[in-house]
Amino acid sequence: MSQDGLWASQIDTSRPHPARIYDYLLGGKDNYEVDQQAGDALAKVAPEVRVGVRANRAFMRRAVRYVVGSGVRQILDIGTGLPTSPNVHETAREVAPDVRVAYVDNDPIVRSHADALLSDSGAGACENSIVLADLRDPRDVVDHPDVRRVIDFDEPVALLLVAVVHFLTDAEKPEQVVATLRDALPAGSFLVLSHATDDFADRDDARAVYNKATARLTLRPRAGIERFFDGFDLVEPGLVQVPFWRPDGPPPARSGEIGFYGGVARKTT
Ligand SMILES: C[S@@+](CC[C@H](N)C(=O)[O-])C[C@H]1O[C@@H](n2cnc3c(N)ncnc32)[C@H](O)[C@@H]1O
Repeated sequence: MSQDGLWASQIDTSRPHPARIYDYLLGGKDNYEVDQQAGDALAKVAPEVRVGVRANRAFMRRAVRYVVGSGVRQILDIGTGLPTSPNVHETAREVAPDVRVAYVDNDPIVRSHADALLSDSGAGACENSIVLADLRDPRDVVDHPDVRRVIDFDEPVALLLVAVVHFLTDAEKPEQVVATLRDALPAGSFLVLSHATDDFADRDDARAVYNKATARLTLRPRAGIERFFDGFDLVEPGLVQVPFWRPDGPPPARSGEIGFYGGVARKTT
């Protein structure tokens, strides 16, 4: 069997997957009935969720433009998700055509969509890689040969942890995970992070939807999320609900209810 065949055989269609639920909420087609049911259940208990995932995606694009505009030419995107155009490399290359991106996800379905993820006129195997690895093993991510092929850890890197750290439970020590990644980055690097919260509404029901999925959802308050930026300096406006991070237009309806914080920070030493 081909490597892609092997990866495809690991795809579990019996339980909802975060990547596929998110794809469904974004209006994508790479999802199964279990994911659609979970997405609909989420939208029932958290009616702003579809606006929220779009706002999260728009935050990611603004943040990528910001870090590339600040001079960074390499991006390590962990928790990539299924292909949703414009992807990170497409957004980055609107600003600078020589940006390299290593995409990392622990869901084989993301790897199996590699061609779609990488397809654009300028992308090639030397500029991008797709790596099946787990954020919970950050050293394995940093040392992975396909990450090293694209990312030179002696040069500034933008580390993207966009809507993924909430899939790590407290027992999985997410602060230590982020700190391990931070320590691998040289000065001049950036952290772009967004994270789900229940600061704006009771979200016990949303959490319950993920109890049946392949990854649990751990919502954190603002102070708990801000700790992930330890060792970095947050750039203005700091950690805010994603629509309010350097908006490039009027915020979408229900922005005040959106349960995602986002921030961008620089490593200065
Ligand atoms: C909600 S999607 C976010 C996609 C994209 N970063 C965005 O914000 O548009 C979360 C992604 O993180 C991935 N993920 C969850 N836990 C992970 C882990 N422990 N290691 C790597 N990826 C993980 C899921 O498979 C999914 O693709």
